[in-house]
Amino acid sequence: MAATVVARVRSHPIPRMYNDRLSVRAMVRAVTQSLAALETSIAEDASLRAIRAEIERRAREAADGDAAHDLGHLLRVALWTMRLGEADGVDPRLAIAAALLHDVVNVPKSSPDRTRASAMCAEVARELLPRHGFTPDEVELVSGAVLDHSYSRGATPRTPLGCALQDADRLEALGAIGLMRCISTGSRMSSRYFDDADPFAEARPLDDVRYSIDHFYTKLLGLPATMRTEAGRREAERRAAFLRAFLSELAHELGRPQGSLGSR
Ligand SMILES: [Fe+2]
Repeated sequence: MAATVVARVRSHPIPRMYNDRLSVRAMVRAVTQSLAALETSIAEDASLRAIRAEIERRAREAADGDAAHDLGHLLRVALWTMRLGEADGVDPRLAIAAALLHDVVNVPKSSPDRTRASAMCAEVARELLPRHGFTPDEVELVSGAVLDHSYSRGATPRTPLGCALQDADRLEALGAIGLMRCISTGSRMSSRYFDDADPFAEARPLDDVRYSIDHFYTKLLGLPATMRTEAGRREAERRAAFLRAFLSELAHELGRPQGSLGSR
């Protein structure tokens, strides 16, 4: 079944259990080149196709219009889980399954159940994966990674797949995409962009429920230090630098001295 994931690399048939690391690397490189290649890989794997269909069915039912947790988010997390897991030999097919399922139960950030969200997703994964041909070991690996991925739960992943998934999901909170997701999530919680009187919380406690910019300081800029993979840390630093540049531009536009960001 793993061979369907690597349809882009016809010359590298992939065994279910990897013995040839070079073939695995060639496969991961090919599949992770683009979202289009990933989409094709999912379409050609009956199990992944079924999981994707289930995700889309649930999204249609929920109809919550949450742009930060749409199918695009799941696919980007899949790409980065494969990329970040490559060095540790993470099975790309399991990386895709874990990424598709990691937000299958979307609990709003403001909900008291938020810290239980990943446990609820792991429960769904345990139920769905065996129905679609995943072995008991694979189910355990994927559901464990899903359980440990979330920021709000604060767990340490126990496997390379879990580390790659957690890092990939955190990358989505940084950079240009992270900026858009932060603002759209804040808008769903009726947050203001920033406090007009004190946009960078220099003389008040941070409050990222009321102000989206505060979330940069309560969470986003600290994410690079939490990354588990070397490649993830490098990419997180790059994306965090973009967020700092954005804050500098915001300070400039608001007529705040650049130095006002230094204490954060
Ligand atoms: Fe996510």
